[in-house]
Amino acid sequence: MRVIAIDGPAGSGKSTVAKAVATRLGLAYLDTGAMYRAIAFEAMRRGIDPADAGPVATLAREVDLAVGEKVLVDGVDATIEIRSPEVTRAVSTVAANPAVRQELVARQREWVKAHDGAVVEGRDIGTVVFPSADLKVYLTADDQERASRRSKEMLDLQYDQVAADIARRDHIDSTRPASPLSVADDAIRIDTTGRNIDIVVEEVLALAAQEETADETSAQGTDHDQTRRGEAR
Ligand code: DC
Repeated sequence: MRVIAIDGPAGSGKSTVAKAVATRLGLAYLDTGAMYRAIAFEAMRRGIDPADAGPVATLAREVDLAVGEKVLVDGVDATIEIRSPEVTRAVSTVAANPAVRQELVARQREWVKAHDGAVVEGRDIGTVVFPSADLKVYLTADDQERASRRSKEMLDLQYDQVAADIARRDHIDSTRPASPLSVADDAIRIDTTGRNIDIVVEEVLALAAQEETADETSAQGTDHDQTRRGEAR
């Protein structure tokens, strides 16, 4: 089972790169941020305060989530709603809830197993969800560029507001006690500031190809060693 982890903060280019890499490699694609967003959305829809840890955790354990091209929450299509500014503002609080993380991490591992591998994007994929991923990429971009990418996506919001929301989210995501956003020791960092995202995709594909070759070589090495050991016996 091949797993490629793509982590990084909001606006670093993760989704675009992860989707394109998955398509090119014929792997499934999992957006784990969409799962945290779905819990935040459903909590608000049911009138649960996103900061109310117990009820939000119960909801995370009980709700039916289907994440793919569309995001279905208890069978209802919430693909568009989970991207709303309200959900975006509430999601970091939900994602800081350790019981929610425990539940969603388990679901993410199951999802990837059921799809026989995937390109998985998030914040803690290389550090917590799949610490032995075949390839770990950590994307970054400077704050201004991340805010301007996001404000272009959200036509109804002003740049200043988006920049403030991103800074607030970055702060919560990277200072929370439960699996904060951090770079895995063995992740390859790519700064996407001022770079064409197609070139970044090619760079990640080249890393994936290198990793595959290295993997095959070491597997052959192991076979060879086993044969030699077999011969010696
Ligand atoms: O990538 P995104 O903006 O859709 O993520 C939404 C929120 O979920 C964001 O505040 C960080 C959080 N998140 C997380 O804590 N762990 C993940 N694996 C993915 C997202």
